[in-house]
Amino acid sequence: MIIISLKKPLKEMSLSIIILAAGQGLRMNSEIPKVFHSVGNYPMIYHVLDLSQKLKPSSTTLVVSNKLKSFEKSLIKRYQKIKFEYQKKPLGTANAVITALNNKEIIKKKNTIILYGDTPLITYETLSKALNDFKRKKLDLSILSMIENDTNNSYGRLVFKKSKLKKIVEKSELNFKQKNILLCNSGIMLIKTKLLNEKLKQVKNKNEKREFFLTDLVEILDKENYKVSYFNSRIGEAMGVNNKTDLAKAERKFQDDMREKFLKQGVTIIDPCTVYFSKDTKIGKDVIVHPNVVFGPKVKIGNSVVIKSFSHIESSSIGDNAIVGPFVRLRDESIIGSQSKIGNFVEIKKSKIKKNVKISHLSYIGDSSIEKNTNIGAGTITCNYDGLKKNKTYIGENCFIGSNTSLIAPIKIKKDSIIGAGTVVDKNIQEGTVVYRKSQLIKKNKK
Ligand code: UD1
Ligand code: MG
Repeated sequence: MIIISLKKPLKEMSLSIIILAAGQGLRMNSEIPKVFHSVGNYPMIYHVLDLSQKLKPSSTTLVVSNKLKSFEKSLIKRYQKIKFEYQKKPLGTANAVITALNNKEIIKKKNTIILYGDTPLITYETLSKALNDFKRKKLDLSILSMIENDTNNSYGRLVFKKSKLKKIVEKSELNFKQKNILLCNSGIMLIKTKLLNEKLKQVKNKNEKREFFLTDLVEILDKENYKVSYFNSRIGEAMGVNNKTDLAKAERKFQDDMREKFLKQGVTIIDPCTVYFSKDTKIGKDVIVHPNVVFGPKVKIGNSVVIKSFSHIESSSIGDNAIVGPFVRLRDESIIGSQSKIGNFVEIKKSKIKKNVKISHLSYIGDSSIEKNTNIGAGTITCNYDGLKKNKTYIGENCFIGSNTSLIAPIKIKKDSIIGAGTVVDKNIQEGTVVYRKSQLIKKNKK
């Protein structure tokens, strides 16, 4: 049998990508560089870099300030192909692009896409459509636009004359009439590289902010009769993040998109707006998610899993047919085996729980391995911390740990053993052992 894929992989093309991330981000009121604030537990700059790599450019240049120097190593480790250029002073987006052009690779490519590091939600679909439109119409410059119904927004506006795009006017420069324009600039620009290189020099900083606005290129090119146009994005996806209100808005949109994605994928989410995902959340088939569940980063859920309310899961995976919650916290690379039942009120940290294990009530399991078919009674605590270091607990298969047991780690309880309720276990237990502490119950007449 011969299978031919109809989806051709995007060939490496004559495309340069420039990502601007050297702004001061003052409006965020934060010590953390703006582009490292997260949406869906994923830094905004990762969203943008992931997207840029999907377009398979032949060069990607990230313009940053010195503040981001300490991030260079880790970013290059993650995205091998990116080149850093440092903008000395935040003189504006046009100046940032001039800085990018120090990377001589850019000029060798026919087209350039300029992305902003504070625009995390833009999709590959939209950007590749915009790129196709740019090529098909043989444009010289295209702006990715967006409709913004709140006329009080801080975006640059697209100004037309006889339905021809003439210029972009920044918020600080808008006249009274222009304030009502709903078509705004997303910041994303597609441009012939040669023109970008030539015309940037003409951008002046004669504006209120004394900044070199990249957006001025629209007017400069239009005046010289180059083909300037725009491509509209879908509502919300091109929003920029300048302050914490924008960040919250971006998070809302991201969560709505993730809910929609998982619902389409067949996940049952009983009350979608109360469930929160991370960018990298992976969920299998026929999973049911009850209200008020949070999926932190690095979570993988198998098939037919039920996750009950008020569970918080991060850096963990859950195997097929497991039931988790209500009120379960999973963290630090915990692995829950298939058909296991965890919760209610159970915390599991850095532990491997095999198949068909039951930890049904009020327990703390940390730094542990629990083999298949074992039952952990209510209120079992693995005492993993001796005040200096974390110690491991091992519980073999088919064990029965009675309620209110304290397991003093490091400890091994071999398979087929039974621990009586209320036992403090501080020695290793051999296979097939029954363990309990004999302490008499004293009963006396109160009088
Ligand atoms: C910019 C656009 C505006 C658009 C909006 C969309 C300009 C002049 N304005 O405004 O038309 O509607 O984005 O979100 O482009 N940066 C640098 N160096 C600088 C200045 C900025 O690298 O000197 C970077 C920032 O880190 C950021 C991006 O460029 O990632 C945009 O800068 P920002 O200050 O956020 O511009 P906006 O006011 O949002
Ligand atoms: Mg911005």
